[in-house]
Amino acid sequence: MDVHSVAVVGAGTMGAGIAQVCAQTGWKTCLYDAFPEGLTKGMATIENFWDMGIERGKTSVAQKAEWSGNLRAVNNLAEAVKDADLVIEAVPENMQLKQDIFAELERLAPSHAMLATNTSGLPISEIAQSTGCPERVVGMHFFNPVPLMSLLELVRHDTVSEETIAAAQSIGSAMGKTTIVVRDVPGFATSRLGVVLGNEAVRMLADGVASASDIDTAMRLGYRHPMGPLELSDLVGLDVRRDILNNLADAFDDESYRPHPMLDQLVEAGDLGKKVGKGIYDWTSGKKVER
Ligand code: CAA
Repeated sequence: MDVHSVAVVGAGTMGAGIAQVCAQTGWKTCLYDAFPEGLTKGMATIENFWDMGIERGKTSVAQKAEWSGNLRAVNNLAEAVKDADLVIEAVPENMQLKQDIFAELERLAPSHAMLATNTSGLPISEIAQSTGCPERVVGMHFFNPVPLMSLLELVRHDTVSEETIAAAQSIGSAMGKTTIVVRDVPGFATSRLGVVLGNEAVRMLADGVASASDIDTAMRLGYRHPMGPLELSDLVGLDVRRDILNNLADAFDDESYRPHPMLDQLVEAGDLGKKVGKGIYDWTSGKKVER
């Protein structure tokens, strides 16, 4: 499948990162968000990443100009997807919202377009069922920060076509990612392992086993993880992690997956992590500070 034009639906952390990498791959990329302020913020995040790349000597002004020329902010869904060979949805983890969007995508995008969802754990088959073309729907799960993370987890549901899986693998390679193919089970491979570790780290913090930074250092130095599980939870978003845990608990009918009460309390207090300045740590000074 030849990709020339891509639409990314949802300009949050993940959507912006995905759109950035699509533009860098050389594809004409439309970034869409239902909220104008979300779209502005997503475009600013990309711009900032490219500027930081120039500052670090990782990229050039000319290269940035070429990438920027591939990227367009669009605040109308029909306009964003009308020429797309590939649409990647990255909206919040709400099944009804995703199903409504996929029903619209089938109507608005070209009939050959691949329709991908970046869900980190919701059943792809249920999302695909909201369309009349489940064979073109696939899970494409990216990792934060998308421009730096080399994995793309592809999710195979029962009614996806082999052509779609093969095309998704080539798309991943073109984007510079290593792909793995996982069955459509709750939490796939990555989210299930990641959130269980993060939830256990929160339980240990609540139990007073060690400070947040010592728990993180345990995994960074003891297991060579690039980040500790608590700082990673703040990076991903505590709300995102809580939702995945609740989805796992419901899907497997197993309460051991339920988010620890401390995680629930932080989310209820609006302390969602780095994106709002406070989570398990306080990030308001620009540095990680123990709370
Ligand atoms: N432009 C170009 N390159 C950049 C850049 C920029 N703006 N910013 C950073 N880089 C490059 C750096 O130059 C560096 O490159 P080299 O290795 O070639 O020197 C590299 O990226 C790493 O950058 P830093 O040195 O600034 O950062 P770091 O070494 O501390 O790594 C990190 C940062 C990549 C985030 C690392 O800590 C990490 O891998 N953390 C774990 C992240 C993770 O687990 N993510 C998955 C979360 S789960 C998820 O996302 C799924 C979900 O469903 C929610």
